[in-house]
Amino acid sequence: MTNFSISPGKNNVGAYINNLDLNNLKKDQINQIKDILNMYGVVFFKKKNLNSEMYQNFAKSLGQLVEYPRLKGLENYPFINVLERKPTDKSVAFGGSFLHQDTSYLDKDRPRYTMLMSIEVPDDQGNTIFSSGFNSYNKLPEQIKEKIKNAKGIFSSAGPISKTRRELESRSGIKSAQIMEAEHSIVHEVDGQKSLYVSPGHLMKIKINEKESEEIKKYLIDHVNKDEFIFSYKWDKGDVVVWDNLSVMHKASEVKNCTRIMHRITIK
Ligand SMILES: [Fe+2]
Repeated sequence: MTNFSISPGKNNVGAYINNLDLNNLKKDQINQIKDILNMYGVVFFKKKNLNSEMYQNFAKSLGQLVEYPRLKGLENYPFINVLERKPTDKSVAFGGSFLHQDTSYLDKDRPRYTMLMSIEVPDDQGNTIFSSGFNSYNKLPEQIKEKIKNAKGIFSSAGPISKTRRELESRSGIKSAQIMEAEHSIVHEVDGQKSLYVSPGHLMKIKINEKESEEIKKYLIDHVNKDEFIFSYKWDKGDVVVWDNLSVMHKASEVKNCTRIMHRITIK
């Protein structure tokens, strides 16, 4: 067995996994990481500074890697997408402004995990903000839990967050893909814990018994944005972070006049 330790993030959102070498993981350690991810929704490994080979190998140990067609991959590592923010960039950061769950607009085969490693980060800005789907579900009033237990959300790639993606696409000369839309339950269960799946950046409608409820939609979006469910994660260079899109929402924070480079891998 291993002697790594875990410590929860602020507001019990996510967990730091300390003293674990990600290069030589044994099967039981990988299973332990998956258990912690199931329990907390997001895991943080500080200052790992993996090379691309090791980074990709670690991602592979957690699942099947997925190519993300809207971002450029590294030359020899097509599964590693580069997210780069330059000092001259003026627009909102890619994935900023709205909490979301990545690719919730896909009908089938939504990639479950997103992994980032920080290659270059500014000292005083560029946090990633996480909101716990578990904690926000648990704190809902019982009558709301009852009301939404079979509710469906309609999620679209043209939802509120799409503005940041279109800016990125026009900068990198990628033509916008067609709009994708999907319907999913807004309550998911991960290893016995219920989680809110409302992806505010993509959510268009909530349907309860086939009737649209603008009121519940607004209520839930306000709810998941409450401070008590949020952890604003401060990056150091070389940090590796993995989140489960079923159980946490995330967004990028404002970044201005700085360079910020992240390597992203999407995992099924
Ligand atoms: Fe995202």
